Amino acid sequence: MQYALKVVGPHGAVVGIDRDPLPQPIAGARVLQGDAFTTSDGELLGKLAAFDVVLSDMAPNTTGIRATDQARSAALFEEALTRAERLLAPGGAFVGKIFQGPDVEAIRRRLATRFSDVRTIKPESSRSESIEIFLAGKGFA
Ligand SMILES: C[S@@+](CC[C@H](N)C(=O)[O-])C[C@H]1O[C@@H](n2cnc3c(N)ncnc32)[C@H](O)[C@@H]1O
Repeated sequence: MQYALKVVGPHGAVVGIDRDPLPQPIAGARVLQGDAFTTSDGELLGKLAAFDVVLSDMAPNTTGIRATDQARSAALFEEALTRAERLLAPGGAFVGKIFQGPDVEAIRRRLATRFSDVRTIKPESSRSESIEIFLAGKGFA
C-alpha cells in the first residue's frame, strides 16, 4: 500500500485489505480489516467504479506441510483473481503472489484468458529459498 500510494500520486486512490490489523496507519490509503473471502465487492470499491490495478500479497499462515500451504496460497490467489475479474476496469492489471506448486500452470492459463500479457515474476526482494512467485497480467479485457 505504501508503494502503491507513491505510484498513484495525489489524485489516485489506494484501497487495502488485510485480515490482521496493520502495525501502523497508512496515511492516504483506505484500509479495511477483514477476510478477503467474505468482504463484499461494494466494501472494497467504496465510491470507486472500478480498479485500474489489483495487487495481492496475501499468504496463508504456513503449516510446514507443503501441499497444504500450496493449496491455501492458490486459494488466496484465485480469490484475488476472481475479484480482479469482477472489479478491474478494461485495460487493467493484476499481480498476485502464489506458492509454486501443482496449481500454478492452470492458474496461469486462467490469467491468459483475460489478460493480453501474462508473466511469471520472482522479484529480487523475494528470498531465493522461498517458494513464492508472482503472476502478473496486463491488458485486462
Ligand atoms: C506476506 S504478508 C504481506 C503483508 C503486507 N503486504 C506487507 O508487506 O506487510 C501476507 C498477508 O496476507 C494476509 N492474509 C492472509 N489470508 C488473508 C485473508 N483471507 N484475507 C485477508 N488477508 C489475508 C495476512 O494477514 C498477512 O498480513
